[in-house]
Order: sequence, then structure tokens, then C-alpha cells
Amino acid sequence: MAVDLLLGLQWGDEGKGKIVDVMTKDYDIIARFQGGPNAGHTLEFDGIKHVLHTIPSGIFHPKALNLVGNGVVIDPVIFKRELDNLAPFGIEVNKKLLISRKAHLILPTHRLLDAASEAAKGKAKIGSTLKGIGPTYMDKTGRNGIRVGDIELPKWKKKYRALANKHEAMIASYKVDIQYNLAELEKDFFEAIETLKTLQFIDSEAFLFQAMDEGKSILAEGAQGSLLDIDFGTYPFVTSSNTTAAGACTGLGVAPNKIKEVFGIFKAYTTRVGSGPFPTELFDEVGATMGRVGNEFGATTGRPRRCGWLDLVALKYAVSINGVTQLMMMKGDVLSGFKTLKVCTAYQYQGETITHFPYDIDPELVKPVYTELPGWKEDLTRMTQAEELPKELIGYIDFLEAELKVPIKIVSVGPDRKQTILR
Ligand code: GDP
Ligand code: IMO
Ligand code: MG
Repeated sequence: MAVDLLLGLQWGDEGKGKIVDVMTKDYDIIARFQGGPNAGHTLEFDGIKHVLHTIPSGIFHPKALNLVGNGVVIDPVIFKRELDNLAPFGIEVNKKLLISRKAHLILPTHRLLDAASEAAKGKAKIGSTLKGIGPTYMDKTGRNGIRVGDIELPKWKKKYRALANKHEAMIASYKVDIQYNLAELEKDFFEAIETLKTLQFIDSEAFLFQAMDEGKSILAEGAQGSLLDIDFGTYPFVTSSNTTAAGACTGLGVAPNKIKEVFGIFKAYTTRVGSGPFPTELFDEVGATMGRVGNEFGATTGRPRRCGWLDLVALKYAVSINGVTQLMMMKGDVLSGFKTLKVCTAYQYQGETITHFPYDIDPELVKPVYTELPGWKEDLTRMTQAEELPKELIGYIDFLEAELKVPIKIVSVGPDRKQTILR
């Protein structure tokens, strides 16, 4: 049995959480493969909105097992808060939630280091979520990290102390004003570690091999988006993991030939939160309307998301890197009411018109070239069948499918589970 992947094709917040929740009924296992609590995945059903950061978005399904894979970085304090938020819903987390022993831990000092690094960068800051993601992955690749499996053995506290001491010296070396009380942070951290220990820690790659042998179906859930990938994103304004399809192989221990469908999710327009180049960004009333109607505020930090037209140059690049086999278009409802819609189909790049995604998309170098399409005015949010969609929206979808050469199989018309149209 194969593994399907679902991942974001833009700068994150495409609606991954919503669609994973919708699709969980078709899978036995949902597995997060990278990122950490920088992610905020929103699910809405029965009039309740849930935001998950580390826990996979299949957790509300009565049957599916949910795995936090080895490629994920876990902050025990945030994880405990997520578990507390789930408590009223009677989910048997000790049965349904599994943690890879090889996942790395975010320490309180990783968060402080993130803050110090950003403060030292000043205007050039990444706009990090300040969850300690960069410093934790640095310790992972630097071979200094602490993994979930370590906390099962008593000697890990010595390793913890040495690493935290080293981090404190590093924080001081940034020479920025970061106030903190490590003793207090550690109290919360060690308490949360005890909560984490009540869950099942597993050798998740072996668990997945066996699940595949037994014919179980697996959906790998990505975090962030392809343009935030550490290798292929808009470096250095990226996150510190491989958010693209290859990240699922290393983040779960799944071989490339075991991957079947790659579901690529995108918004009908574009958003970005944090710093970094964004060629189709709008600074006018149109962008403000997208932000207002789309309720574009970060699910993790509450920051307003920057908004702009759909960028097909970037989207094609993401489709190629991930080998996307099916597309899902989110938030079409937000575009209702615009007379014309613009789609960026090329860049003006240093006097040339290009259609590939160049090394640097700095606004100084890149100007979007737009194709205009007619908009639709109907409210989509109550529609349930593909036949009901307005002809202009069908025209928009046909245009994108022709450009991207991949079918758009789901059109999402609102945040709720039920506002999902299959084609
Ligand atoms: P994720 O990080 O990819 O899971 O996405 P987020 O949860 O951060 O952001 C997506 C936001 O859009 C959430 O507030 C969702 O509830 C909302 N959303 C998802 N799909 C739709 C849609 O089709 N229409 C509208 N209006 N909102 C949507
Ligand atoms: P989901 O999974 C949107 C952005 C941050 C910042 C950059 C680096 O909800 O789509 P980091 O904290 O990783 O050091 O931040 O990446 N970023 C996201 N933007 N959605 C996310 O996750 C993001 N995770 C990180 O805003 O620009
Ligand atoms: Mg999000």
C-alpha cells in the first residue's frame, strides 16, 4: 500500500488542516512529516473552530491514528496546550496519537535564540513565528539536538543542561536585549515533558513499514508551503525544513517509490505572513478586501497576512518540485465580487519576460505580468455541487488547469468541512 501526500504550494496557510480533516475518513493513518508549532492548521465543523500546531489534522476522526513523524520538531509546552484544548472533546490521545522517538525537541532556549537572532537582524529579520524552529533544526543538523527517545532515559537531563548552558552563552553573544527567566521557563518545560511521556513513543519508520505491509492507507500532512522550503523557497525568508514532497521521505522514513498521490493545495489568490519577497502583493483596496473577506490573520501569531493575486509562475514551480498529481483550490469564495481577476503568468525580469521561477524574486528584479479573467459575483459559500459553480469560476479553473496541466479536484468555498466541492 502506498502513501499519499498533501502539501501547501504557496507560502503556507493554504487550508491544509481543513482538507486533511475532510480526507481523514479515507485513511487509516495521518502523519505530519516536518515543521513544528510554527504551523497553525485550522479545522472547522459543528460550529467549532480548532487550531492545531503539532498534532496532525486527523485527530478528530474517530478511527484514524495520528503520527507526529521524525521530521517534526516538538515544543512540549505548546504540545501540552494542544492536548489541553482537545480534552473537552473526549479524544483518546494515548491511543490515537503516536510520537516518533526520532522527533527533535524544542527547548525553551531555542525559542530565546530565535528571538535573539531576529532582534539582531533588525530590519532584515525573517519574520519568524519565534517558536524556536530555526535553532532546533540547527541543533539537529549540527548533531547536538535532544530527541523524544532521549527523554525515556534518565541521563538526558545532563545533556539538556549542557545544551541550555551553551545556548545561554550564544544568546548573550547576540548583544540584544532579551529578558527571560530560565528557571520559570524550565518549570513549564519539564512539566510538559511529563505530559508528553503519557503518550506512546514509537519507532515510527518501523510502524509505517508494517502499516504499509498490512495494506493500511497513509496520508502525510505537510506544514508551511513550498515557497518556504529551506532549499527551494525564497531563501533566506523561509523556514528551516523541507516542506516539499521529498521532506515526507526523510520526515517519515518513507521511500520515494512508496508515494502515490501528491495533493497540492493552493488559495485562489496568494498570501504570505512574515518578511520576504512577494511579486503579486497588493497594497491597495483589492488586497485589503482579500485580507478582510478571507480573514487573513496568522493562525499561530495573529499577524495580518499580506495578500495578492495568484502567481502561476510560482505555482508551476511548486507543482514541478512536488510532482503534484491533483490540485485543490481553496477560498474561491473570497474572490466573489471582483469584476476582473488577475493571474500572474510571467515575470518581467531584468528586461526579459520569463515564465520560470528565477533565483531571486526581489521586487527590484521582478515585476508580474498579468492575464485578466472575468470575476464572478455569486456567493459560493452555500454551494455543494460542482454544477452550481458560476461559469466565470469554471473559466478560472479551466484556465489554471490548462496552465498547470494538473486537474483541480477540490474547490473549497468556505472554512467549514461541509463547504468542500468535489469535481
Ligand atoms: P493551513 O495552515 O494550511 O492549515 O491553513 P490555516 O488554517 O493557517 O489558514 C487557512 C484559513 O482559511 C483558516 O482560517 C481556514 O478556516 C480558512 N479556510 C480554509 N478554506 C477556506 C475556504 O475555502 N474559504 C474560506 N473563506 N476560508 C477557508
Ligand atoms: P502553516 O503550516 C505561514 C513563515 C513565518 C516566517 C517564516 C519562518 O500554518 O501553513 P519560522 O517560524 O519557521 O522560523 O518562520 O516562515 N511560516 C509560516 N507562514 N504558514 C505557516 O505554517 C508558517 N510557518 C512558518 O511567518 O515568514
Ligand atoms: Mg496555517
